[in-house]
This record gives sequence, C-alpha cells and structure tokens, in this order.
Amino acid sequence: MRILVAGGAGFIGSNFIRYILGAHDDWSVVNVDKLTYAGNLANLADKAGDPRYVFHRADICDAAEMSRIFAGEKPEAVVNFAAETHVDRSIDDPALFLRTNILGTQVLLDAARKSGVARYLQISTDEVYGSLGATGKFSEESPLKPNSPYAASKTSADLLVRAYGKTFGLPVLVTRCSNNYGPYQFPEKLIPFFVTLLREGKPVPVYGDGMNVRDWIHVEDHSRAVDAVLQRGRPGEIYNVGGGNERTNIEITKLLIAAMGKDEKSMKFVPDRPGHDRRYAIDDEKIRAELGVVPLVPFEEGLRNTVRWYIDNEPWWRAVQTGEYQSFYDRWYVRKDRA
Ligand code: NAD
Ligand code: DAU
Repeated sequence: MRILVAGGAGFIGSNFIRYILGAHDDWSVVNVDKLTYAGNLANLADKAGDPRYVFHRADICDAAEMSRIFAGEKPEAVVNFAAETHVDRSIDDPALFLRTNILGTQVLLDAARKSGVARYLQISTDEVYGSLGATGKFSEESPLKPNSPYAASKTSADLLVRAYGKTFGLPVLVTRCSNNYGPYQFPEKLIPFFVTLLREGKPVPVYGDGMNVRDWIHVEDHSRAVDAVLQRGRPGEIYNVGGGNERTNIEITKLLIAAMGKDEKSMKFVPDRPGHDRRYAIDDEKIRAELGVVPLVPFEEGLRNTVRWYIDNEPWWRAVQTGEYQSFYDRWYVRKDRA
C-alpha cells in the first residue's frame, strides 16, 4: 500500500512513519509537511534515503499543490496528522489554528476525494469532548464540547470529515487519542518541556493547582492503533484510543523530577491556562473489541525510556532551541535536488 501521511515531520507523524516502514515491507510512504516550527526533518533522518519514503514540503491548505502531489504520487490511503497542535498557542493565535486545522483538512479531503483514495483517516483528539469531572470517561458517543480554539478547530475538522463521508461517499475514519509521549516530541509539550528545563537546572512551571488529569499513551501504542484502524476500521466510524493511564500533572512532574535526580523545589506553580480542561479519560472499549487494539507499553517503562531518550539526544533538542533544526530541509533536500 502507498500511503500519504500529512504532517509526518511532527512528533506523532514521524513516529508513525518509522513504525509503518518497519511493520510493512511492502508499504511506501509519501510525507507531506509544511515544516512549520513543529516540523523537523531530523525526526526522520534515518529514512531520508529509503526508496519506500518520499518527502514533499507543502501546505495542506494549498489546493493546487495538493492536487499536484496526489496526481503524481497516487496514494491509496491518506492519514492526516497535519495540524497546529499546542493549546497555549491557540489561545494566542486562534486564526492560524482555524486555517490549518479546518481549511487544511477540507483541502485534503477534496484532494483525497478527487483522486479516489480507498481510505482517509483523520487523526483527531480526545479534546473534542471537552472536560470531565472526577468520574466518567469519553466514549465515541460523548457530546462534542471543545473548550480551546485548538479543540474547536479539531472538532470542526471532524465534522467536515463526517460530511465528506456522508455527502461524497469518501471512505473516512477518525481516531481520537489521548495525550501522547515519547521521542521527538516538540519541547513545548509538558513532558519534553519539563525534562529539558530540569536538564538545564531550571524550575518547571505547573499551571494552576496541578491537579488536572491527562490519560498518557506511548506514541508507539498510538501508531499501532492508527495502523489497525487504517487497515481494518469500518469506514464512517470513529475510534477512541487511550492509554488507560490517568495521572495528575503533579504526579507527572514529580516522576520527572525524580527521574532527573532533582529536588521537588524545582516545581513552581504558575497562573492557570485559560479554559484549562480538568480531566480527560478515554473509554477505548470499541477499538479493543472490534480491532483487538490495546496499549502495550507500561507507563513507568515508557516514561523512563523517554527521559533517557531526551538525555541521550540532547543535540536534537538543542538544535530546536537554537532554531538550527529549521535548516535541515535545505541541507538534506534542496541541496540534494540541486546536485
Ligand atoms: P506536532 O505539532 O508535533 O506536528 C504537527 C505537524 O504538522 C508538523 O510537522 C507541522 O510542520 C505539520 N503542519 C502544520 N501545519 C501544516 C500545514 N498547513 N501543512 C502541512 N503540514 C503542516 O503534532 P503532534 O503532536 O505530532 O500531533 C499530530 C496530530 O495528532 C495532530 O492532528 C494532533 O491534533 C493529533 N493528536 C495529538 C496528540 C498529542 O498528544 N500530541 C494527541 C491526540 C491527537
Ligand atoms: O489530549 C490530547 C492533546 O494533548 C492533543 O490533542 C494536543 O495536541 C496535545 O498538545 C495535548 O494537549 P494538552 O494541553 O493536554 O498537552 P500539554 O503538554 O500542553 O499539557 C499537558 C498538561 O500539562 C495540561 O494540563 C497543561 C499542563 N502544563 C503544560 C505545560 C506546557 C503545565 O502545567 N505546564 C506547562 O508548562
């Protein structure tokens, strides 16, 4: 199978591409990514020369460019990871999130429809369901109640995906996953942000009272789930994906402080994120029952390996901090094309 992965230079997309190329000898991947601040070709440095992998720097909002890429590459399936993803940034600049996450999805859906792909899989999020109190879980039937501009834009995209399925008969699928962690996550998100701060001997900023709960899943488990839905999910269906692993932010912070050999005095409480969702928890019974997908990475082991990865790969996040990572495209692709 030849799949087009949009947003494959980001955290989950790059882990997914590595997973897919490893899991399926006869699959090839077309990675389409704009390389925003969150896109980093160093994430797939080991795949740059792989004959089963090709990269296009392109904006999913650019209809002409998408139609050119689809016509040239002829993918059989599309997996859309491309998005603006950081909630705090969506509070500063909602318009950018609406453009990429809604308009970009619509452009991609159109390109997929016109080229007649066999599957279109939208990577969504549990944030579309809003926030939970102390009990309960999100099922696929839970009402959509997004609270941040990011979550609202992802919800809108999900509705467009549904509409393209109903109106045009596009074979669409949606996955809604909880918080991912693992290697290559941009160091603005909680776990890599705190690990890199602690490594530099700096305090870590915990929002509000730190009692917000997230359900953490290793990115490899998410990749396995996406692979299963892509191959065996029923068109028109939505599948929740979760880690079954609820933790407060304080718990995560303490685990990271201990793993980095630091003092709990490193934890600093700072003003809360506006509209901060209190708790997410996923009911993943549907994907378990229908597709046999269960998370396999135990959290303690996954977190330990993740912390080790950031310690061992300091040049990766230092290049992000200095901005040097943004020149990788020129070094690996533009110069090669000119040679
Ligand atoms: P990320 O921010 O690390 O990567 C996003 C990627 O999309 C980057 O490579 C970026 O360059 C690319 N991109 C952005 N705008 C683009 C555009 N206009 N055209 C082409 N490419 C563009 O994000 P992530 O954490 O890997 O998340 C990937 C997807 O998974 C997103 O759709 C997100 O909503 C969803 N998701 C993330 C999590 C999580 O915990 N990180 C959980 C559930 C769902
Ligand atoms: O649930 C899935 C979502 O998880 C994805 O859809 C998003 O793309 C992804 O960014 C993530 O959203 P969160 O807002 O949950 O992730 P973040 O890493 O930004 O924050 C996790 C929790 O930690 C949240 O409760 C806010 C808190 N936090 C975060 C940062 C960056 C802090 O207390 N301090 C911080 O500095």
